[in-house]
Amino acid sequence: MAVELFDTHAHLNMEQFAGDLDEVFQRMAAAGVTRVLCASFDLNSSAETAALAANRPGVTASVGVHPHDAEDVPQDYLARLKELARQPGVVALGEMGLDYYRDLSPRPVQQRVFREQLALVRELNMPVMIHVRDAFADLLDILRRDGISQAGGVMHCYSGSWEVAKLCLAMGFYISLAGPVTFKNAVKLKEIAVKMPLDRLLVETDCPYLAPEPYRGKRNEPAYVRYTAEHIATLRGISLEELAAATTANGLKVFNIR
Ligand code: NI
Repeated sequence: MAVELFDTHAHLNMEQFAGDLDEVFQRMAAAGVTRVLCASFDLNSSAETAALAANRPGVTASVGVHPHDAEDVPQDYLARLKELARQPGVVALGEMGLDYYRDLSPRPVQQRVFREQLALVRELNMPVMIHVRDAFADLLDILRRDGISQAGGVMHCYSGSWEVAKLCLAMGFYISLAGPVTFKNAVKLKEIAVKMPLDRLLVETDCPYLAPEPYRGKRNEPAYVRYTAEHIATLRGISLEELAAATTANGLKVFNIR
């Protein structure tokens, strides 16, 4: 059985890939990574990822505003996101959420922009790609009060505890693990990688950030999701093929890709 992996969160529109994007796609294919979802963080990146999804086979996109960028949204950003969300290959809204670790936008602004985008998620009935760091209590509170859509969503680059992961699973979320699960001291993430129900687990790179071992500290790229998948498969005592088949099927399901 050939390995078919789905990198469910990558930032291939970023300047780090401007010089060698074709080679990045070639290495991705050679590593058995057949699909990649390009996630957005502001309006410009949303337009860029939508264009990538329209022009490259195996590429899909999410459009949305990251909490870091919440303070800089133009007045008409929701109308523009709505327009981009209708482009072919755009399968989710995000990344959106709360980040109290870096606090690059004021917290009340992060919360407002998150809730405004959640209203669009419900209106368009699309899956949501959530970014959350050091803000789980407020995030879960908003999700419970406002709700998402029938289409569900993903906690991307999950960094919380297993206890909070269980709350997210109970709300219907998928949980995506990135390169840090391969780091030697990532005890909490390794625990989650083992305990996660296989039918709710996704893998991602979040490239160009967070390269897995043995590339920690280097530029990350979709091909390297294979290292993360191999590590999780080893932790769970299953084959890479089985882990890849399950996580790819989960990605196709939550993002409604045929
Ligand atoms: Ni990201």
